[in-house]
Amino acid sequence: MAHVVTERCVDCRYTDCCAVCPVECFWEVTDPAMLVIDPATCIDCGLCIPECPIYAIYPLAEVPEPYQEWIQKNEDLFAKGTNFTEQTDPLDSAIPLDEIHAREKSKGWNVKDPSAVAEDEGGGGGGAPAAAAAPPPVAPRPVASDEAAEEVPMAPKTPPRAPLDFRVGARIKIGHRVGDVQEMRKGGGAYGGYHDVKVHLEGDQRPVWYLYSALQTFRDQGELEIVDPGPPPNIFQKLFGGA
Ligand code: SF4
Ligand code: F3S
Repeated sequence: MAHVVTERCVDCRYTDCCAVCPVECFWEVTDPAMLVIDPATCIDCGLCIPECPIYAIYPLAEVPEPYQEWIQKNEDLFAKGTNFTEQTDPLDSAIPLDEIHAREKSKGWNVKDPSAVAEDEGGGGGGAPAAAAAPPPVAPRPVASDEAAEEVPMAPKTPPRAPLDFRVGARIKIGHRVGDVQEMRKGGGAYGGYHDVKVHLEGDQRPVWYLYSALQTFRDQGELEIVDPGPPPNIFQKLFGGA
């Protein structure tokens, strides 16, 4: 499974989408002028869908019939593109959502907006764009050497972020997707603590791994909802923490 950028993006390229992608899987291509998604890297989190002002991105299972060819096109095009991770100005030729809808109607197409936004905004084909979310916080760059450390002011020490209050068996909502937490894997080295979480999202055959810190970022931005925290921890989990 992966998400798919459709023809709606062509000659618009608003780029709001790439700023929220936790795995940086958007690529810019020039022919046609748009961003596409690397399907092997996309983790189906759905965060990019409401960011696009013209709702050009669909989950694989929802790609409208007239845009089916874009499933293969994303796969073919991304390898010819340039990885794109920061929002920039849209193309001068960009048009708003109502003009996209009018263009589709003039072709005789009945194209619904992605369900993630259609549900929020009273049905596809007419909703106003969602407000853009703030981009994820950027970690301070490590200092390269002792010499550089003298010249660069020390970054303020950030307090540790609150742990995610769920366990194996939890039910969580990431963006508009709901899934079960299947496994929490402990990281080693300097970081310690859990470093990734296996989630089986509804409607997908295979579970996906999320970085624990990425889920904390989602939580801090209001994109992660803990529907059910899972069974209470046993004595070992109380003593040693985690799942
Ligand atoms: Fe990136 Fe998530 Fe969108 Fe896939 S669904 S392209 S991982 S933001
Ligand atoms: Fe294209 Fe929408 Fe992203 S127009 S570049 S998919 S924000």
